[in-house]
Amino acid sequence: MPRPTRLLALLLLVLNGAIAAESPPPWAYGFKVPPPPGTLQVPPGKAGAPSTDPTKHSLAGSDRQFTRAEITDIFNHADWYPGDHPAMPDIVAHGHAPIVWSCARCHYANGKGRPENAGIAGLPVDYFIEQMLAFRNGERLSSDPRKSNTPMMVEFAKAMTDAEIRAAAEYFGAMKWTPWIRVVEAERVPATTISAGMYLQVPHGDDEPLGNRIIEVPENPDAVEIQRDPHAGFIAYVPVGSIKRGEELVTTGGGKTVSCLTCHGADLKGMTVPEVGALPGLAGRSPSYLVRQMFDIKTGQRHGKRLELMKPVVANLSPDDMLAIAAYVASRTP
Ligand code: HEC
Ligand code: HEC
Repeated sequence: MPRPTRLLALLLLVLNGAIAAESPPPWAYGFKVPPPPGTLQVPPGKAGAPSTDPTKHSLAGSDRQFTRAEITDIFNHADWYPGDHPAMPDIVAHGHAPIVWSCARCHYANGKGRPENAGIAGLPVDYFIEQMLAFRNGERLSSDPRKSNTPMMVEFAKAMTDAEIRAAAEYFGAMKWTPWIRVVEAERVPATTISAGMYLQVPHGDDEPLGNRIIEVPENPDAVEIQRDPHAGFIAYVPVGSIKRGEELVTTGGGKTVSCLTCHGADLKGMTVPEVGALPGLAGRSPSYLVRQMFDIKTGQRHGKRLELMKPVVANLSPDDMLAIAAYVASRTP
């Protein structure tokens, strides 16, 4: 190799190393610190032993009562508000034993989901199906090897029939995505702990500086943690000034990227792009989820044919840019 070429090759290697070394923003993945170098991919998560506590829980506006064992049942969804949604297809309510959990167990029967999984209500049916195939084909992994529920989605998608995938896509796709997360700019936030990948306020805890993070917590921690109340939404605390900074990046590209509106719609509610197909809405969705996706697309852990369009969009975005973008996008009314 002639010397200048060798030097160039070396420089590229160093640059590649620098990109690979950018560690996933831990708050977006449900951790407090980045994964130590060399951390191995964890296997898919498993259900814990069912609780033996006989206490029956209830929720306002529901005539149902469930024990903790019923609330956490992975093959029989404890549906607090059956009047909220159409009848669940079998796969959504019961999963497909022994591998596939009920979709509602994590995403709720109304598809609202939680920051550590995903809001899946209102996704275009074709997009939804493609994502299940992407999980199945190894095109959707997580950049944080400690995140154990992404490999669960992979395991589920592999065990599901095409008919089950379509039934779930049509069920969730028929719902509208409506406001679920309140975005608040703040300097200080409640002290938090992490429960199964979700940030949760420490009971009677102090507050602490937010810093360069987004902290997404339930409006009512008990209702979410104990009853898994599908009416109890979330608050996303974002750094002061981040929404404005994000608006500039999203609407103009800010010299670092291109405007998101051309593909995700003028109102960020999704649109069909000729020759590409239906693209998902982004407005009002979980900022932790959005940052994970942008970061995973940048590292290539999430990839695929259609994502060739997204790769250049995220190539020059730093985790702080992604944070600002997510703060703005999540604050938009869906
Ligand atoms: C154990 C919890 C869990 C269960 C049960 C679960 N999911 Fe998921 N799902 C996740 C997580 C976690 C993600 C996001 C992964 C990430 O951020 O890396 C996700 C993401 C998705 C997405 C991608 C959304 C998007 O906008 O691209 C779809 C679609 C989806 N799930 C469908 C389903 C279906 C259908 C079922 C039922 C068969 C199901 N999920 C059951 C945890 C779960
Ligand atoms: C040239 C078109 C294009 C532009 C511009 C674009 N996107 Fe995308 N985006 C896509 C496509 C295509 C997908 C879906 C890929 C797939 O099917 O997996 C996508 C998917 C996403 C997802 C994953 C959604 C989910 O539900 O998991 C996020 C997040 C996202 N884009 C954010 C953005 C942001 C933020 C911007 C602007 C900074 C942007 N995109 C600009 C084409 C685009």
